[in-house]
Amino acid sequence: MDLIRPEKILDLDPRDPVFFNNPYPAYHAIRQRSPAFFWKQFGMWCFASHADVMALFRDKRFGRQILHIATRDELGWPETSSHVKPFYDVEDHSLLSLEPPDHTRLRTLINRAFVSRQVERLAPRINRLAHELMDGFEANGRVELIEAFATPVPVIVIAELLGVPTDIAPQLRDWSHKMVAMYQFGRSRDAEDLAVKATQEFVAYLKVYIAERRKKPADDLISHLISAETEGTQLTEDELVSTCILVLNAGHEATVHSLGNGVKAILETGIDARAFLSDVASGERLVEELLRFDAPLHLFTRYVLEDVEWNGVALKKGDEIGLMLGAANRDPARFIDPDRLDPTRDPNPQQSFGGGIHFCVGAPLARLEMRIALKVLFERLPRLRLAQRPVYRDVYHFHGLERLDVEF
Ligand code: HEM
Repeated sequence: MDLIRPEKILDLDPRDPVFFNNPYPAYHAIRQRSPAFFWKQFGMWCFASHADVMALFRDKRFGRQILHIATRDELGWPETSSHVKPFYDVEDHSLLSLEPPDHTRLRTLINRAFVSRQVERLAPRINRLAHELMDGFEANGRVELIEAFATPVPVIVIAELLGVPTDIAPQLRDWSHKMVAMYQFGRSRDAEDLAVKATQEFVAYLKVYIAERRKKPADDLISHLISAETEGTQLTEDELVSTCILVLNAGHEATVHSLGNGVKAILETGIDARAFLSDVASGERLVEELLRFDAPLHLFTRYVLEDVEWNGVALKKGDEIGLMLGAANRDPARFIDPDRLDPTRDPNPQQSFGGGIHFCVGAPLARLEMRIALKVLFERLPRLRLAQRPVYRDVYHFHGLERLDVEF
């Protein structure tokens, strides 16, 4: 079987700082060696070419979930350990863990809030927020941008959209960070316990909040999801809570890092961001290129729903496979000069938002936040420069900066 062919086995520690600070040379080497490789540390087959990642996202023989068509027994899976069960109970009800028909039902409800024409209405608010945040540090001459700018923009926007008070933004970030740690390779028992505690606190908070909104609806996403539930028995309480958590977490984690990685890329390459952001069309192209050049999420998984042969690999029902978004975005077979940041690149079929039925529902919002926040930042600080070499966080498959110290 393919699995044992040594040239197809990748032995690479995702927590090696050389790798997670700049994974692109490794991606090129891997892609050149084999279109599919068995990543020893993750124990799964992974795919790094643009063509494979795109096709796998869209192929119905692969899914985010498999327990809708097979039992744990049939798959030979052990029961979930009781100490992490509260985390997975919440995750299992979220949009991202569902497959049709449940996924379709939930996604239709949520889509309405995130289609471009709804999201466009947030532009003035995002602009004002970016200015307010900059008022807080512009006079200082230097700042750590992740904390002062890249984080609060998306956290406050998503909290307002959902309808939770923005003064809990720091708490939201803390819960989200602890929950996201569950996806870290080689996570510790401590991290698991913290994630479970954060999940339980988050659920308790939302339950109280949802109960209030049931009594006193407002013009926000939570109220809309509640009324959709009562009108047609559509959303269960569990689905409602899980969806709010997913939207709050997914709604900011990746955007924070797209902003951070984007600013870093602009400053390191020295492109004139201000000029590109001065009009909407060229600003949109720049944002797309930043998302391609240094994506904030590098690896997503799928279950194999039926036995299938893919690119010479015999995949069995129940196997997990890895789709390498960050690698696909630098595939020379799809992008001319992939390691060059080219703000005029068009078309730009970057894969940072995934594809197929789970394609990022927040993509229009993330794109808008990035374009407006970057425009405000570079317009007000034309002399922005790095004060220190930025370092990435040790949480592969997330790819975002620990800090981004800048001067101006
Ligand atoms: C630049 C920022 C963002 C990036 C790179 C990103 C990336 C992604 C990716 C790759 C997926 C698909 C995962 C998969 O198929 O396995 C996804 C799904 C999702 N994203 Fe985003 N995201 C971003 C911002 C947002 C925002 C602002 C929201 C706000 C609502 C959001 C909400 C979601 C949700 C709810 C899903 C699940 C969709 C489904 O399962 O149907 N994301 N995102």
